[in-house]
Amino acid sequence: MSKAHFGLIGLGVMGENLVLNAERNGFSSVVYNRTYSKTESFLRGRGSGKSISGAKSLQDFVDKLERPRRILMMVKAGAATDAVIKGISPFLEDGDLLIDGGNAEFRDTERRVQELESKRFGYIGMGVSGGAKGALEGPSMMPGGTKNSYVSIEPLLSKMAAQVDDGPCVTYIGPGGSGHFVKTVHNGIEYGIEQILAEAYDLMKRVGGMSGNQIADIMSFWNKTDELNSYLVEITETCLRTKDPINGEDVVEQILDKAGQKGTGLWTVLSALELGASVPTIYASLNARVMSSIKSQRLFAETILEGPNIKHFDIGKSDDGMSPIMDAVVLSSIASYAQGMELLRIASNEYNYKLNMPSIARIWKGGCIIRSRLLNRIQEAFQAEPQLTNLLISPWFSEEVNKRLPGLTRIVAGAAESGIPVPCFSSTLDYINSYRTGRLPQNLVQAMRDCFGSHTYERIDKEGSFHTEWLK
Ligand code: 6PG
Repeated sequence: MSKAHFGLIGLGVMGENLVLNAERNGFSSVVYNRTYSKTESFLRGRGSGKSISGAKSLQDFVDKLERPRRILMMVKAGAATDAVIKGISPFLEDGDLLIDGGNAEFRDTERRVQELESKRFGYIGMGVSGGAKGALEGPSMMPGGTKNSYVSIEPLLSKMAAQVDDGPCVTYIGPGGSGHFVKTVHNGIEYGIEQILAEAYDLMKRVGGMSGNQIADIMSFWNKTDELNSYLVEITETCLRTKDPINGEDVVEQILDKAGQKGTGLWTVLSALELGASVPTIYASLNARVMSSIKSQRLFAETILEGPNIKHFDIGKSDDGMSPIMDAVVLSSIASYAQGMELLRIASNEYNYKLNMPSIARIWKGGCIIRSRLLNRIQEAFQAEPQLTNLLISPWFSEEVNKRLPGLTRIVAGAAESGIPVPCFSSTLDYINSYRTGRLPQNLVQAMRDCFGSHTYERIDKEGSFHTEWLK
């Protein structure tokens, strides 16, 4: 029997769909799952009649693969991934390639690349985005790690990936944990945009008194615009239109307001803090999930802490797409991407990843959760200036900021006067206002630090480090 081109470990939804995708693209496959019954039921069900076989043991799995072996692991991040690596390593040979397609912490990937390379195996940490549907039909993939062995998997990944006008949504990202780092930042941006759309919904519902269907109509309108056309706006419309089969009401209104998270948003923010990158919009979205999770405290606080009643300020009209809210959504989305891209740029320098910013924007244009028309603009901005420090100063984006800042400002002010939290909108406003302010009040912070701790300060008029005897 001829050997299979490709092996998959872990038959969760993502794993199943990725192997079906590979097989559909002409790569015969072998699958392994810790519990063999799962493998059997997959082979009897979705995997039947296809060039996919199953393996009962890791030894059997490895034996069924052609060399160099190309093995994709779709298992839980952390200890489960280490356990699979440990289990399979004794059966691997020089040049074989292990790919981790889960959402691993990038430092774990750094470690694994080093360990596996020292055994002369290849290791790729690959971010995969697009959810279950993307995995089956064409995800966006962010592989980083051993460059040489990437060559052996490139033809397969290029066929499996989502396709956009300028190619497949996959490219070699860089060494070490860079692929997982880029996926982590992708998810930070994803958190931001999800929260931004939730804030827009909240204002339309509570200030505008609009129904789910009416808000969905606005999403539909926004999705036709160059600035907001995106997968997340598209699915927001779908979510808002969906009715509950139990009571016929909007399902969204039946869902408990506590948002979960699996860690990538947190890792984005931790990395940003460590690297000195400013990501307030992304951080606000993470914190909004944390606040949402303390539901019982919020219910109690609601009974004792007073605030203003809702004021029906001007949030715009439906026939012009609720333009001030649209301004807030556009600028906050731009800020999420700008902050994510800046974090990538800083990390690339710090970790020597040599990230290709236009390529990253390109592979996010299809298949992934944050795909959007804005990414064309982002790609163009970085093509024009690869070392661009911040998207906000690139010509098209600065025009957007100048045009939409008054709208964002009115929304944040109105929300504050109505006592409605808009963490991403207000963080974005502060971010932009800080970024466009040549002189901030940190001169006073420096004075205080020098006053109590002789930390010294720099002066505006001459070079050097200075200290004042403040308390004499
Ligand atoms: C993707 C997603 C996916 C992620 C979920 C859940 O790009 O397909 O980012 O990888 O796991 O969106 O993330 P949270 O549970 O942390 O929201």
